[in-house]
Amino acid sequence: MLQPLSTSIGPIGVFDSGFGGLTVLRSLVQQLPQYDFCYLGDSARSPYGNRSYEAVHQYTLEAVQWFFDQGCPLVILACNTASAKALRTIQQKDLAQMAPANRVLGVIRPTTEVLGQYTKSGAVGILATEGTVQSQSYPIEIEKFYPHLKVYQEACPMWVPLIENNEQEGPGADYFVKKHLDAIFKKDPAIDLLLLACTHYPLLEQKIRQYLPPNVQLLSQGKIVATSLVEYLNRHPEIANRCTKQATLTFNTTDSTAAFDQQAAHFFGAPVSSKEVQLLPVRS
Ligand code: DGL
Repeated sequence: MLQPLSTSIGPIGVFDSGFGGLTVLRSLVQQLPQYDFCYLGDSARSPYGNRSYEAVHQYTLEAVQWFFDQGCPLVILACNTASAKALRTIQQKDLAQMAPANRVLGVIRPTTEVLGQYTKSGAVGILATEGTVQSQSYPIEIEKFYPHLKVYQEACPMWVPLIENNEQEGPGADYFVKKHLDAIFKKDPAIDLLLLACTHYPLLEQKIRQYLPPNVQLLSQGKIVATSLVEYLNRHPEIANRCTKQATLTFNTTDSTAAFDQQAAHFFGAPVSSKEVQLLPVRS
């Protein structure tokens, strides 16, 4: 049944399966300091990387509904897996039923729009979760903007669990970082740009750099997504005017707050004090 057209005002919602989206939130706050932001990490069900389309869509939909219930007119899926597996269905189908005046944006499109500017050799590597790789979202989107690029993908299924368990400096991280870098350069040694296409991966940046040939650029998404959001809000005053601007930040998790706050501080780079929330089932 169609809902009345909601024109709520509120913070910009920022969503991730867990902590990864905080690396994006950092850049959003830097570039849009006057705006209010509301972060939600679905830590109780993280990671999403190996889950089915149905599960990722359902969980993401529940989160989007929760943001809308808080009054958020705009939600950023600061998670590549959710952007790859749920965003299109939410934009094209669910939003019309839920809140047609609201908007949900992802991180893949803004990244692929600028990716070609960072490579000289024309060979780029995408490091991502299994779900993002399987969805083929990156090769499909890159083809639209930079059809001449050669795109190689590598799923790194152990990287998110290592990071979520604060093992990014340990010997396990050395092993799994080297394993996947070796694998992607084997696909094409001419790769001169590696994209961290998972918002958790910036936490492994130092470790990755230890094993990276000096000519290879490592790109993370925070600044790119923030720059794109600034441009989006300039182009869409009808949305920007509904986003409140008192420079507040709230953090929410579906799991225990103590564990969340401790880990989240590493990702966000500042102390975090969260609230535990419950997501309710939503029918698509
Ligand atoms: N941070 C997420 C991403 O960008 C998801 C990681 C996960 O839940 O597996 O893909």
